[in-house]
Amino acid sequence: MITKFRGVRSITSQLGARRCSRLPFSTTASTHTALGQLTGPLPPYGRVGVARALEVSPTAEPTPTIFANEFSLADHVALVSGANRGIGLEMALALVEAGARSVYCLDLPQTPGEEWMKVNEFAKKLKGTGGEGRLEYISGDVTDQEAMWNVGKTIGDREGRMDICIAAAGILKGDTSCLTYPGKQFKQVIDVNVNGVLFTAQAAGQQMQRFGNGGSIIMIASISGHGANKGHPWTSYNTSKSAVLQMARSMACELGPQRIRVNTISPAYINTSMTGQFLATRPEVEEMWVEQHPLGRIGRPDELRGAAVWLASDASSFCTGSDFFVSGGYQAW
Ligand SMILES: NC(=O)c1ccc[n+]([C@@H]2O[C@H](COP(=O)([O-])OP(=O)(O)OC[C@H]3O[C@@H](n4cnc5c(N)ncnc54)[C@H](O)[C@@H]3O)[C@@H](O)[C@H]2O)c1
Repeated sequence: MITKFRGVRSITSQLGARRCSRLPFSTTASTHTALGQLTGPLPPYGRVGVARALEVSPTAEPTPTIFANEFSLADHVALVSGANRGIGLEMALALVEAGARSVYCLDLPQTPGEEWMKVNEFAKKLKGTGGEGRLEYISGDVTDQEAMWNVGKTIGDREGRMDICIAAAGILKGDTSCLTYPGKQFKQVIDVNVNGVLFTAQAAGQQMQRFGNGGSIIMIASISGHGANKGHPWTSYNTSKSAVLQMARSMACELGPQRIRVNTISPAYINTSMTGQFLATRPEVEEMWVEQHPLGRIGRPDELRGAAVWLASDASSFCTGSDFFVSGGYQAW
């Protein structure tokens, strides 16, 4: 549909008459082919958006591609760490809803918890996902590098592909003064939040490399990696999350040529067991947290679904080495 605004109708015709010859390139289909050499191969479903509109036959009856193709995770295979509960489980379900064939949820307990079991039943019943929509549970420890590589290989052997990795396993220790911070505890946090994220990304990344289809690695960083949390002596957690932000940038630069994208999501305070356990010991902190977000509240895990699916999908195909805040504006003050 062409909308004509009063007094503006002549812009296109003026451009056509006087400016088009001076544009560096036109938007005809033939020029898009030449540009393709600069912009890389097209996805299997071909052109989308304006380029598709320009080349489509006048008799065609096109349907939208934005959710059917760009955001779709149809047939994709994913590994999500820390997915027995919380943000990891929320994102695992979001991937299934976006069409993923199988999402492997790795976490510490030998058997999945009640929450995971219920979500699994729900996922099985979901209609219209475009895939089998399978959640699988794997008991594992992200700090065990060899075991994590084996997990990746086992999934690769079984599924014949690996497309998405979400490294969500993480731990937070209570308030501890930096000048007397016990080395053992510091090491523990770094081990899970930094080494564990690396080993998870390696496990999936090795398989992405093996199958040669590219992939998307998403690491859950935090606003705590961008600055200290006001009112909380969390040196270990803050340090670990800063390391995750840099890890993603370094890996993105190394893996870009293989079309393996690496990005981070930085949530602010989200209402999960992690924050719940902390608030149980410090209930007076709740009000301070709420006030620190311009939206005047903390977040829900489901508010991370969109960012996760967007980063996992072709809809973000030109994003790598970047961090994305899902924070109620926390960093905007
Ligand atoms: N909740 C928040 O406010 C918030 C904010 C910013 C970032 N994050 C980050 O999001 C991620 C998920 O946090 P959450 O709030 O869902 O926490 P959560 O405690 O509810 O979930 C974390 C999961 O990681 C698992 N895990 C811990 N150590 C592990 C290990 N060694 N191997 C495998 N799994 C392990 C836990 O068992 C748990 O199921 C974490 O990386 C956290 O730092 C959380």
